[in-house]
Amino acid sequence: MTRLKISPSILSADFAKLGEELRAIDAAGADYIHVDVMDGHFAPNITIGPMVVKALRPHSAKLFDVHLMIDPVDPYLEAFAAAGSDLITVHVEAGIHVDRTLQVIRGLGKKAGISLNPATPPEAVAWLLDRVDLILVMSVNPGFSGQAFIPGQLEKIRRLKAMIGDRPIELEVDGGVSQANAAAIAAAGADVVVAGNAVFSAGPAGYAAAMNAIRAAAAA
Ligand code: DX5
Ligand code: ZN
Repeated sequence: MTRLKISPSILSADFAKLGEELRAIDAAGADYIHVDVMDGHFAPNITIGPMVVKALRPHSAKLFDVHLMIDPVDPYLEAFAAAGSDLITVHVEAGIHVDRTLQVIRGLGKKAGISLNPATPPEAVAWLLDRVDLILVMSVNPGFSGQAFIPGQLEKIRRLKAMIGDRPIELEVDGGVSQANAAAIAAAGADVVVAGNAVFSAGPAGYAAAMNAIRAAAAA
C-alpha cells in the first residue's frame, strides 16, 4: 500500500490569515494544497477566485490542487492557470463539452482533474480517462466543509479504481474524510484524500498530528 497523500482544504482554514495558514499546513507536511473554488451557482456557496490563488502561491511550493465547483468553467481556466494552479479539477456535471475543457487545461501546461458529485455514476468519466491526471470523488455534496462522509461512495471509489487500471491517474476522495474512515477509503483505492475540518479543527499546533493520524489510520 503506497503512502496515502493528504491534500488539506483551505476552505476550513482561517480566512483572516490564509498566507500564515498555508505556511503552517505546508510545514506540517501537507502533500498537496486543496483550494475549493465555488461560485454560488454550481455550488451553494461563494469562496475565492484566481486573485486569492495568486496571492497564496508564494507561500507554499506544494502542488496547488484547485477544485473548481463553478459553471461555466471555461472562461476562468486561463486565470486559474496563470494564478499558479498546478492541477485544475473541473466537474463532469459543470459543462457539456468537458472533454474539450480538459484538453484546454492540459494545453495550459497544467494537470487536469475531473470530479464527480455523489449522485453521478462512475461511468460518466469512462470516456475521459485519457484526458485526466486525477479523478476526484465527492463524498459530500459540494458547498461546505464539516459535512458527514457519504459511505455509499466507497463502492464508487472501488469501481473507479478498477476503471483506472494501470493508467497514471490519481484517485482523490473529497469530503468528510477523517481518521475514522481513512482506512476504508484507502482500502477502496484512494491515492489522495482531501481533509478540511479533520485537519484545520486541530489548530496550527495540531496540523501535523492530525494529518499523521489520518495517514496512520489508512496504513493500519
Ligand atoms: C466541499 C469541498 C471539500 C470540503 C472538504 O464542497 O469540495 O473539499 O472543503 O472539507 P471536509 O474535509 O471538512 O469535509
Ligand atoms: Zn474540494
